[in-house]
Amino acid sequence: MDAAMSKPIIRLDAVSKTFQAPRGGGMVEALREISLDVRPGEFLSIIGPSGCGKSTLLSLVAGFLSPSAGEILFEGKPITGPAPERGVMFQDYALFPWRTVIGNIEFGPFARGVGRRARRDKAGELAELVGLKGFEDRYPHELSGGMRQRCALARLLANEPKVWLMDEPLAAVDLQTRIILQDELLRLWGDGVESADRPTVVFVTHGIDEAVLLADRVVVLARRPGRIKAVIDIDLPRPRAPLRSVPEVARIVDQLWSVIRDEAAMAIAEEGN
Ligand SMILES: Nc1ncnc2c1ncn2[C@@H]1O[C@H](COP(=O)(O)OP(=O)(O)OP(=O)(O)O)[C@@H](O)[C@H]1O
Ligand SMILES: [Mg+2]
Repeated sequence: MDAAMSKPIIRLDAVSKTFQAPRGGGMVEALREISLDVRPGEFLSIIGPSGCGKSTLLSLVAGFLSPSAGEILFEGKPITGPAPERGVMFQDYALFPWRTVIGNIEFGPFARGVGRRARRDKAGELAELVGLKGFEDRYPHELSGGMRQRCALARLLANEPKVWLMDEPLAAVDLQTRIILQDELLRLWGDGVESADRPTVVFVTHGIDEAVLLADRVVVLARRPGRIKAVIDIDLPRPRAPLRSVPEVARIVDQLWSVIRDEAAMAIAEEGN
């Protein structure tokens, strides 16, 4: 089935979000009238200057926040709160420090009442899948940054979510680890594999090159209040991992950079005021 023809798995319809600023400040308009359809099985990246509302957008889809105006639908129904079908991996959504790798991975199934044996077996498989075999009994502080992100990824996978909501999941790891984890992420998502039931990914990143390499479409948000500035199709073949250094990728990155350059410059200027 052509993804472009199918019904959206997520629909944002004129979504706005305004916050009350802390300590008696005024209102902060984080997002203004965002309308966006996310197609089932697509890999969608979101980029935009700091403070443009990327994390707010993901938190709305996760169900941690509700919109101030507009509507967000998941498979046609309004989102009313978090649910296992929408898994999250946030940069600052830390692992539970008092739980081991296995304890973290099995947390979702545990919370859903899956029996001990079944969730242990599954968590063990996932630990192996993300390259943490042999580290199952370690605590988060005993792991490298890359290993922690692998663990967070396995924890997300444990709920078999239809949607992966990822907020700068690889921002805190070094460049080599990031490249390895990008490839792993693509593999786990099913990059280049003909499959009708691939998960849908919404991936926030500051890395334009990362957005281009991974995504089917890149959404560029304008600076605060966040609005959609551009939606760009990335017509590169899959699998993507072998394309890392082809000139076409650099060309698309350049093109995207010219779209966001002015926004980024103005966002920095405004921050300084
Ligand atoms: N809970 C909150 N209360 C008040 N203001 C908030 C809250 N959460 C976010 N904001 C404000 O909303 C705006 C958007 O924030 P958000 O974190 O979504 O931006 P972002 O695009 O993710 O930024 P970054 O790239 O730095 O992660 C910012 O001005 C931020 O200060
Ligand atoms: Mg953010």
